[in-house]
Amino acid sequence: MSEPSDRPRVLVTREIPTAGLRLLREVAFVDVWDRPIPPPRDELLRRVEGIDGLLALLTDRVDDELLDAAGPGLKVVSNLAVGYDNIDLAACARRGIPVGNTPGVLTEATADLAFALLLAVARRLPESAAMVTQDRWLTWDPMLLLGRDVSGATLGIVGFGRIGREVARRAKGFGMRILAHSRRRAPDDVYRDLGAEPVDLDTLLAQSDFVSVHVNLSADTFHLIDAAAIARMRPGTILIDTSRGGVVAQSAVADALRSGHLFGAGLDVTDPEPMRADDPLLSLPTCLVVPHIGSATQRTRDRMAEKAARNVIAGLRGEPLPDAVPLPAA
Ligand code: DGY
Repeated sequence: MSEPSDRPRVLVTREIPTAGLRLLREVAFVDVWDRPIPPPRDELLRRVEGIDGLLALLTDRVDDELLDAAGPGLKVVSNLAVGYDNIDLAACARRGIPVGNTPGVLTEATADLAFALLLAVARRLPESAAMVTQDRWLTWDPMLLLGRDVSGATLGIVGFGRIGREVARRAKGFGMRILAHSRRRAPDDVYRDLGAEPVDLDTLLAQSDFVSVHVNLSADTFHLIDAAAIARMRPGTILIDTSRGGVVAQSAVADALRSGHLFGAGLDVTDPEPMRADDPLLSLPTCLVVPHIGSATQRTRDRMAEKAARNVIAGLRGEPLPDAVPLPAA
């Protein structure tokens, strides 16, 4: 397709739902990297040259090098995610480039996935399914694959933002006691409505049967759940992470699963991604790892694509982004 010179140029770094692409194509010439894996770095640096807008994914590192390669015409960076740890915000701020993300629309889907992992690990679904498919199911057995009760157990939610609160709503329905920790305390009525108790991190780790992590990845939260944090958990705790792999020290999780200190772990995110099949965690039967699918429902991804596209369009027009990430002072 020829490139009309009067239209702004937008690079979209992967195939995204049509809902977003349609909006972008109404106003811009859109270059889509349509392969199943992210563009190699040199290809990405080549493709950004001279663009006006970038719709990026969490697999693309947006830093000084990329912004320099794009050049001075770049007016907006829009991430197809609520998280933005792949973007150097200071580098964008120095150039006056606004950054957008997609909050709000993936909250329920991600909370559902966190709860799906919690239930699957508590009731040992991967081991149970493998027993059937491998023809190892001999009979009904009173001692077979005994798991953990969810009802009546205590769930500790680390990070009590949108997604953490939706996880609490589900936990309330399952009759769990809910402890919540976040850097900034939520208004009292939020805890009251969800039946959650605000606690410090040490109390949460010491009193929970399940710990579910919902914080952004930053320098402050990198390896927040490390060997020392795991040691403070009760023996038999189940750990769930649907935030970012870097928040949890995976080798410490593997050690604690091997020793039995952790009963199980459910991870939607790993560090690095993808996790390779020979990773030691995958040989541990009570560890369930899925490939970063927290927001992977059709409706959610359509909405994320629309939001990301609207951020690009606003940026191209020099208008405030509908969902702008706060930038550090330049
Ligand atoms: C996000 O939005 O940050 C998720 O990790 C992907 O949906």
